[in-house]
Amino acid sequence: MIKNNNGMLDIAGCSVDVLRNKYNTPLYVYDEAYIEEQIKMYKKYFKSSKFDTRIIYASKAFLTTYLTHILNRHKLSADVVSAGELYVYKQARFPMKNIFFHGNNKSFGELKMAIEYNVGTIVVDNISELMLLSSLTKTCNHKVNTLLRVNPGIEAHTHEYIQTAVLSSKFGVSIFDTAMLQQIVDIYNENDNLNLQGFHCHIGSQVFDENSFIKATKTMLGFISTFQNEHNFKITKLNIGGGFGVKYTNEDDDLNLKITLEKLIQTAETEITKLDLSIDELMIEPGRSIVNNAGVTLYTVGCTKNTFGDENYIFIDGGMTDNIRPALYQAKYDCLIANKMDEEKTELRSIMGKCCESGDIIRKNINIQKAMPNDILAVLYTGAYNYSMASNYNNLLKPAVVFCKNGISKLVVKRQTFQSLIENDVMDGE
Ligand code: LLP
Repeated sequence: MIKNNNGMLDIAGCSVDVLRNKYNTPLYVYDEAYIEEQIKMYKKYFKSSKFDTRIIYASKAFLTTYLTHILNRHKLSADVVSAGELYVYKQARFPMKNIFFHGNNKSFGELKMAIEYNVGTIVVDNISELMLLSSLTKTCNHKVNTLLRVNPGIEAHTHEYIQTAVLSSKFGVSIFDTAMLQQIVDIYNENDNLNLQGFHCHIGSQVFDENSFIKATKTMLGFISTFQNEHNFKITKLNIGGGFGVKYTNEDDDLNLKITLEKLIQTAETEITKLDLSIDELMIEPGRSIVNNAGVTLYTVGCTKNTFGDENYIFIDGGMTDNIRPALYQAKYDCLIANKMDEEKTELRSIMGKCCESGDIIRKNINIQKAMPNDILAVLYTGAYNYSMASNYNNLLKPAVVFCKNGISKLVVKRQTFQSLIENDVMDGE
C-alpha cells in the first residue's frame, strides 16, 4: 500500500506531495484496495459448511458514507452504537436488515428509531433497556429480533480502557448472574414481539492472543447449552464480537487472522456438534482490523524546536484533535518525513501537535529524517479510531478524508470550514 517512489511516499499510487497540493493537510488518506483485501480475507477464512457466518463491521472504528457503500458491495453487515451512526447508514441507503444496534445506554428515542427503521437486530445490553424495548414493541406490528449481550468474564490482555469482559465491565449481563438472566427470560416470555435469537459478547479490543477468542467461543457455547436447558429456549445465533489486534508500528506484528479465524470456526463446529446445539449463524464484529492499516495521516511540518532540556521537537499542523490515541492509550505510531524517504533517519525527535496541551504528543522520541518547515510528515496506520474520535479542541478543523486506489484519489469527506465551527451557535439578537 505505501511505497517509496523516488524519495516521495506514495499511497495506493498517489504521491503525498500531490495529495497535499490538492487537499491540504492535515489529511486522512486511505488505501481503498487494502480495506477490500481485508474484507475478502475475513470472508475467505470465516466460513463454515455447518452454519452461516456473518461479518459485521464495527462502525465506531471509522465511518463515512463512502465506506458504507464499500461494505454493502461486499455484503457486510454493520454495527452501530448510536442514533448518529444509524442515521449515516440510513442516509446511505444501507439495508437496515443488516444493521446490529449496540450500546449500553440506548435511549427511548434511539430504540424507537431502530424499530421504525426496522433494523435487523437490536443487541440488548441490560434489563432496563429490555423493559424499555419491551414496552415499545408491544404496540409495533412486527417482531423485533434481538441478541442479548453477555459478559463471559474472559480477560483479554489489552489496555484496561479497552477491556470489556471483566466482571465489573459496564457492558452486558454476566453469564454467572443466574437471577438476572431469569428476570430477562421472564420479560422475553411475556412478549411475543420480542425475539431472543442468541447471544453476543465482545472480550476487548486490540487482542493478540488467539486463544482468548477460542476461550470466549467455547465459554459462550457452553453457556448457550446450559441456558437452553434451564430456560427451554432455542438459541440459534452467536456473535463473538471484534477486537482482532493490528500492528501500529513496524516493531509489532498483526494477529494472524487466517489462523485465528480458522481455529474459531473449527472450535465452533466441534463444540456445536458436541453440545448438540442448533446454532445456525456465527458472527464476528471486526472494526480496527478492516480499516486501521489502510490509513495514513499527512501533516505539514511547521516549526522545529530544540529545547534547553532533553527534548527536541517537530511541530505539525494537527495533533490530538485528529489522533487522540497516543494521549489516551499511550499508543505508539510510526512517523516519517514523507518527502525525504531516501534520507537517513539521523535525528531523535518528538512529534508534537499544535494544541494547547503538553500531552499533545503524536510520537515521543522517534528516529526520523531531518525535518524542515513545509516538509510532509506521515503518521502510519491511523485508519481506525482517529477520524472517528476527532475533536474540535482549540477550534481546529476536522481534516478531510481521501480514498486512493490505483493512483486515483477521491475526496470522501470535506475538511470542516470555519463556518462549521459556529453553525450551531445561537447568534445574539437573531
Ligand atoms: N464490537 C463491540 C461490541 C465493540 O465494543 C467493539 C469495540 C468492536 C466490536 C470492535 O473492536 P475492534 O475490532 O475495532 O477492535 N477507541 C479505542 C477502541 C475502543 C473499542 C470499543 N469497542 C481505541 O482507539 O483503541
